[in-house]
Amino acid sequence: MALNTSEPLKTLAVDIGGSGIKVMVLDEKGEPMTARDRLDTPVLPTPEAVLDIILTLATDKTFDRVSVGFPGVIRVGVTETAANLHPSWIGFNLQGALQEKLGKPVRVANDADLQGLGVVAGQGLELVITLGTGFGSALFIQGILVPNLELGHHPFRKGETYEQQLGRAALETAGKKKWQERLNKAIAQLAHTFNYDYLYIGGGNAKEIKMELPPRVKIVPNIAGLLGGIALWRGEV
Ligand code: BGC
Repeated sequence: MALNTSEPLKTLAVDIGGSGIKVMVLDEKGEPMTARDRLDTPVLPTPEAVLDIILTLATDKTFDRVSVGFPGVIRVGVTETAANLHPSWIGFNLQGALQEKLGKPVRVANDADLQGLGVVAGQGLELVITLGTGFGSALFIQGILVPNLELGHHPFRKGETYEQQLGRAALETAGKKKWQERLNKAIAQLAHTFNYDYLYIGGGNAKEIKMELPPRVKIVPNIAGLLGGIALWRGEV
């Protein structure tokens, strides 16, 4: 879909989450032009129901192009997994469907990948994890994304995955103290596995972290999940 490039372009950044769908309009430099707008993720989060929410959030906004962060593996605009949404997402052409509904060019990436694009410094090996409904992960080498790293579903401890131990459900059942102890163990394991230069921790539940973090580990604001959206239009991915 062609763009009129004579005017500064506005990007509608969309973050599809397991509990909320958030949007914000960004200017050409990726700075926010509107406040963040949010609606709950539908109880039955099928593609149709989620697309309806995005359309509702988009109606009062002006934009030329769209960036979407999706909580699953993305290959050329198609959603290949959706652990915390609905099985009908598997094989769904999100890019095509949204492009048709909004009448604007759309680019889609994994939500943790987008979050990472909003925070990395572009130096060395940078790992990003996101703590929300699910456990997201993104890996960068000299600022270049290795797309669709799915650490969340890998074994972590006690026969459970990182997501089963540190996702939203685990935070609710285990409580904040245990959850933070687990997070500490996860950080140590990730340090030994990836030997990262920096580890960034984002996502809605990062605010629950009260402990002191090891060197080179930093909490980043969840809004980066939207701000990272501009990178999809900078040819960085
Ligand atoms: C998904 C990832 C996603 C993460 C955070 C996981 O369940 O498999 O693709 O990044 O949740 O939303």
